[in-house]
Amino acid sequence: MEARKSSDPNDWADGATFFVLAAEVESRAPLADSLEHGLNHWTLVAWTGAELLVTMPDADDFVVLLFALFYDSQRETDYVDPDHGARGAALATELVPAYLPDLEPSRLEKLTEACVLHTAAGPSDDPTMGTCWDSDRLNLWRVDIQPSPRYLSTAEAKNPKRIEWALDHQDVEYSWREIFARYQAAALGLGYPIEAAREQDPDGRFIWGEGDVRWIVPPRGSS
Ligand SMILES: [Fe+2]
Repeated sequence: MEARKSSDPNDWADGATFFVLAAEVESRAPLADSLEHGLNHWTLVAWTGAELLVTMPDADDFVVLLFALFYDSQRETDYVDPDHGARGAALATELVPAYLPDLEPSRLEKLTEACVLHTAAGPSDDPTMGTCWDSDRLNLWRVDIQPSPRYLSTAEAKNPKRIEWALDHQDVEYSWREIFARYQAAALGLGYPIEAAREQDPDGRFIWGEGDVRWIVPPRGSS
């Protein structure tokens, strides 16, 4: 397997392109509004991926983010839909070279493989694949299934405290903007979001404002 850096600062230079790509994927997702498999689920998977990446220095962070965007995007039903991973991979194969032409073919291949196999495969020793699948499987809580360590790949995801964390986060909504900012901050060494800065809407759901970056810890040594 081709070795590469687990995080390339160049991947995180252009948030604007990612947001346009994310909007196109959403516009082409038959179930974007589904609570079980729609946008709220993809963003929660992306956020979970960021949590796991803290302990996965060899995983490809940009592929983990792209996995969250694509892997369930082509579901046509919330029920049995065995080919949705392959359709998500096909959409990635169409859109990623157009929006992100600098992403190396080997990384696109990893992304599509993770999408195709995400429902059927067991745990993986590959750090990127394992992080992708665990990000999804930790959120089985949303369909009333407790994630089983038997189907998880990474030590962090198997930690009972992390499984409990995933349960506690099922109602949290994240925007692509804050997700990208978190990945970007981690990749560029800017620090992590300050959870205490969250606001809650009248229903008690956590909301972070679009374009509001006050929750990013300042760069090290800047204060
Ligand atoms: Fe899926």
